[in-house]
Amino acid sequence: MTAQILDGKALAQELRAGFKERVAALAARGQKPGLAVILVGEDPASQVYVRNKVEACAAVGLHSGKWAYPADVDPAVVLAKIAELNADPRVHGILVQLPLPRQFDAAAVLEAISPEKDVDGFHAENLGALVQGNPRFIPCTPYGVMKLLEKGQVDLAGKKAVVLGRSNIVGKPMALLLINAGATVTVCHSKTRDLKFHTANADIIVAAVGKPRFVTADMIKPGAVLIDVGINRLADGKLCGDVDFDGCKAVAALITPVPGGVGPMTITMLLANTIEAAEREAGL
Ligand code: GUN
Repeated sequence: MTAQILDGKALAQELRAGFKERVAALAARGQKPGLAVILVGEDPASQVYVRNKVEACAAVGLHSGKWAYPADVDPAVVLAKIAELNADPRVHGILVQLPLPRQFDAAAVLEAISPEKDVDGFHAENLGALVQGNPRFIPCTPYGVMKLLEKGQVDLAGKKAVVLGRSNIVGKPMALLLINAGATVTVCHSKTRDLKFHTANADIIVAAVGKPRFVTADMIKPGAVLIDVGINRLADGKLCGDVDFDGCKAVAALITPVPGGVGPMTITMLLANTIEAAEREAGL
């Protein structure tokens, strides 16, 4: 078997083309969706992500603003900026790039964002709504994974899904979305015993562990669907995912590449959430 490749870059382009029409409909009513991005510190990966988010906004006609602070900024300064952005009618979405430096209480910062503008879907109120199966904003990476599964016509009801990783950003919301879609979900993490027992039984694996080529062909069931959330930089500068793509593609039925799989979908769903926030505000 050679797996079919689920092309996230193509799907992202298709979805973004559709966003332009929604942005035009808002423009006809004198509205322009706006995203505010807050970056604290000099983490190179975060700087790249934030730059890509700002550029993606411009490409589909969204307004965006970026506020960058040094790593040693007083958290009160960032909280004051969030309060200002919460009250600004031109801003429909607010995003604080994670991780934050150590002096920050990240949960307190995320709770300071108005839930109606929390386009990352990380506010406790929005996570609670997701738990209840009635989400206001779906966290962008898991949302992108669900769109990829939909594009691949993967029927989730009754399937065994394994999520590798239990982060608040990916693993936990991913598990909730899969449960809400009718899958039987196992969440594995660094303390899981006999990982292969779980992965070898899975119809669908979503890998978000941050370890290069962690999922190997011997760990998966023939015909499995493999979604790779990992973006790891190797010593030679090349990017690779959490899945050993070359080995696994001979065993899996469907697989996402890195780069060009989940990555482009994350920013796409951030745009979707920001446009949706603006549409809600406009009563559309
Ligand atoms: N850091 C890594 N992924 C994300 C994300 O989706 N949103 C934010 N705000 N920070 C991140």
